[in-house]
Amino acid sequence: MLGIIGGSGLAQFAGLEISHRRPAPTPYGEASAALTFGHIAGRPVVFLARHGDAHSLAPHEINYRANIWALRDCEPLGIVAVAAVGSIRADLRPGDILIPHQIIDYTWGRASTYHEGPGSAVSHVDFTEPYDRQLRRRLYAAAAAAAVAVSDAAVYAATQGPRLETAAEINRFERDGADVVGMTGMPEAALAAELGVPYAAINVVANYAAGRGKPGEGISLEAIHQILEQAMEPVRRIIETLLASDDHD
Ligand code: HPA
Repeated sequence: MLGIIGGSGLAQFAGLEISHRRPAPTPYGEASAALTFGHIAGRPVVFLARHGDAHSLAPHEINYRANIWALRDCEPLGIVAVAAVGSIRADLRPGDILIPHQIIDYTWGRASTYHEGPGSAVSHVDFTEPYDRQLRRRLYAAAAAAAVAVSDAAVYAATQGPRLETAAEINRFERDGADVVGMTGMPEAALAAELGVPYAAINVVANYAAGRGKPGEGISLEAIHQILEQAMEPVRRIIETLLASDDHD
């Protein structure tokens, strides 16, 4: 079974033949939404809407620990996480799709580990490669097979939100080596690593990051929604091709 986390623009997965939905209580509380079980391309999947079914949870309000725990309980062979990003690099344009390979975490105050609290032993998960190398490679191959152009490496800057960034913050992220910026990649990836679930992301560029678009133009949420609506179709094709072509049962 493959786990899929849908982000903004992907609260439902067209092409998912739903068999049933199940609420997902965990020791860490409820996941963002009920888990949706079904098939894509004839293969079993479990889907979770990261922001809730009605897109009502802001990035800092998401219970990432419950989400990853609930998916892990389904024993998936991997989790593919879809998320919108802003582009820091001029050559990554709105609508472009990428498979990030690294993360810089600027979030704060989020419940970001399972290893805390009474009785919990100190633990330091290896996070050198925050995304699973093999799952990334499979996604990239699926994109090629589906004739969807994707960038196969990018450094993802995870910000706290929910506000967008200042232009100076984006300049700083670029100096740090980041290519794209989003609000939900962390602690999601680290929690998957703690539970030993292979995790990779598909990022969709929704907008140029603050200060990187046309001079004097801010970031339009309307434009973001429009871009995401269009760009989710190729994202679905990548996931369908991944599932049709491999052994995720
Ligand atoms: N910044 C942070 N997160 C985002 C952006 C952005 O510009 N676009 C989509 N998610």
